[in-house]
Amino acid sequence: MSKLERALELAKKSREKGVDNLVERSAKETGEGEVSGLQTLTPNYTRTKVVDVDKESLSRRGVAVPNFNPSIIEQYNVLRAKLERVLTKNGYKMVLVASPGDAEGKTLTAINLALSFAREAHRTVLLVDADMRKPDVTSYLGINAQHGLYEHLTKGWSLEDLLINPAIPRLTILPAGTPEEPPADLLNGPSMKAFIEDIRGRYPERIIIFDSPPLLRFSDGIYLADYVDALLMVTCSGKTKEEDLRRALELVEGCPLAGVVLNRARLDYCLSAEYY
Ligand SMILES: Nc1ncnc2c1ncn2[C@@H]1O[C@H](COP(=O)(O)OP(=O)(O)OP(=O)(O)O)[C@@H](O)[C@H]1O
Ligand SMILES: [Mg+2]
Repeated sequence: MSKLERALELAKKSREKGVDNLVERSAKETGEGEVSGLQTLTPNYTRTKVVDVDKESLSRRGVAVPNFNPSIIEQYNVLRAKLERVLTKNGYKMVLVASPGDAEGKTLTAINLALSFAREAHRTVLLVDADMRKPDVTSYLGINAQHGLYEHLTKGWSLEDLLINPAIPRLTILPAGTPEEPPADLLNGPSMKAFIEDIRGRYPERIIIFDSPPLLRFSDGIYLADYVDALLMVTCSGKTKEEDLRRALELVEGCPLAGVVLNRARLDYCLSAEYY
């Protein structure tokens, strides 16, 4: 059985928990056509810092901005549409992008998914860099941000002063910040709970995506999985071991599994996300 088939098998189990699973949907079944008729959102960022980003260099880093390879943008759009179906059907809005190990594509998937959601006129997106161990979201976007989630949780800095709009409509980033101590206990603490309640209640149409550290290396992702509505598990073709995927899924088994992404796959299959 191939890795992909195994991932599908594992993902299928989440249906038993009543979650409509994205990996079993075909691209044709997606609900993208439902976008028309919905209100177009063009937020005017008055307090949120707007930072212009160099789209050419983003593209070189694999960030699927408009000048990127259109067929790959489409791959992320398909992934987004499938995920959106799961979210809408289950009334979910918070998704954790995680993976068993290092460098399997969590951050790039989280960013490109966030960009894809932000292309929808009726949505806004908050991308939270919850990987305080290796905060890469701002590096991918070429943004220099020293403060973020860590300072909000530990020093009570207001979100309005920390959020960044990377000059992309409808997308807001909360950087990870600069941790002065290992962040796991913080993620399990009362300030994190208050933060989650706050962002969950703010804007009904907003999707919130969290980037996570590797599940098998740090406990951070396990705590994060307790807050979100669903988990998107990233696996890396040729790298992620089946045993690691199983162990990672066990660690977060209380969190509904929205789907499994087979990243960096050279397959003519709607779930794979790759770029060259
Ligand atoms: N679909 C893809 N095609 C080609 N390269 C990719 C793809 N996804 C990720 N990469 C590359 O793989 C590396 C790891 O990606 P990324 O930083 O997204 O992984 P990660 O799981 O967040 O890593 P970490 O565990 O260090 O946080 C990067 O060099 C990235 O450019
Ligand atoms: Mg990462």
